[in-house]
Amino acid sequence: MQIHETAFIVSTYRSYHENVSKDIYAKLWNNPETEALIPSITDSISKDEAILHSLRNRFFYERMRSFFEKHNGGTLINFGSGFSMYQFSFDDSVSTIEIDKKDIIDYKKEKVDHWTKEGKLPPRDVRYVAVDFNQNTTEKIVEILQPLINKEPTFILIEGVFFFLDRKTTNTLFQVFKKLQKPGDLVGCVTYLPEVEDTPVYHRLLHYFDSNNDTNDSFSHQTIEHSYFQNIDGYSLQENTDEFELSKIYASNIEITDKSDILNETMYVLERKA
Ligand SMILES: C[S@@+](CC[C@H](N)C(=O)[O-])C[C@H]1O[C@@H](n2cnc3c(N)ncnc32)[C@H](O)[C@@H]1O
Repeated sequence: MQIHETAFIVSTYRSYHENVSKDIYAKLWNNPETEALIPSITDSISKDEAILHSLRNRFFYERMRSFFEKHNGGTLINFGSGFSMYQFSFDDSVSTIEIDKKDIIDYKKEKVDHWTKEGKLPPRDVRYVAVDFNQNTTEKIVEILQPLINKEPTFILIEGVFFFLDRKTTNTLFQVFKKLQKPGDLVGCVTYLPEVEDTPVYHRLLHYFDSNNDTNDSFSHQTIEHSYFQNIDGYSLQENTDEFELSKIYASNIEITDKSDILNETMYVLERKA
């Protein structure tokens, strides 16, 4: 499996539970190849993957919506944006900067421009930037992004990406965030905690990736400990929760009795300190 395929999979998951994810535009990305792949993933890893990814989306949708409403707009800077579509559900006072690898960015821009012309998407101010996080320094990424921020405050989102990065690149990105943001700005991010590594469902995930490995597209399988987020230079931890807790709020009809039965990701909201 190539990393870009994971972006199609996540967006398809969101389209399966629109009432939970609140992403009414995710289905635009659905395609037969991805839909054919999903049963093999849910059968061999976990049947709950679609609802869990929809819960993750809902959490950030709610946090970003209230942030931008409170500030009458601002800029969403989405690192590893894949096919996420938050900006089209927000007011047009929100600008967006989308950052991902070149193949994703080129494809997304072309499709979004086309759907906007067709009237399937509302017009939004979206800038697209192709950057590989593994191949650029803090200074280079800041130099590229800084001139594109024309509306403050900023909400930086990095969702479903740390798993694919190593710690060095993760640290680089937090230095980038610190340089781009002002006090009061927020970062929303997601990780697997190291304790998830002991669960059978996580072993099944790694096994799935290993047996569907694309040798040109290696990645890290990173998990990050809670204390990392308590000690990021320039940031304070504002909120954390996980998909198990979110399921009780937004999907009380689904039966998850134990959090170790699911691929439970943890969400963090961090505030840039003065
Ligand atoms: C699982 S997808 C998540 C996409 C989106 N954030 C979401 O939640 O729907 C992971 C995304 O991270 C991007 N990504 C992974 N490694 C990257 C890197 N080194 N540089 C830039 N983007 C990367 C992939 O291209 C992909 O779009």
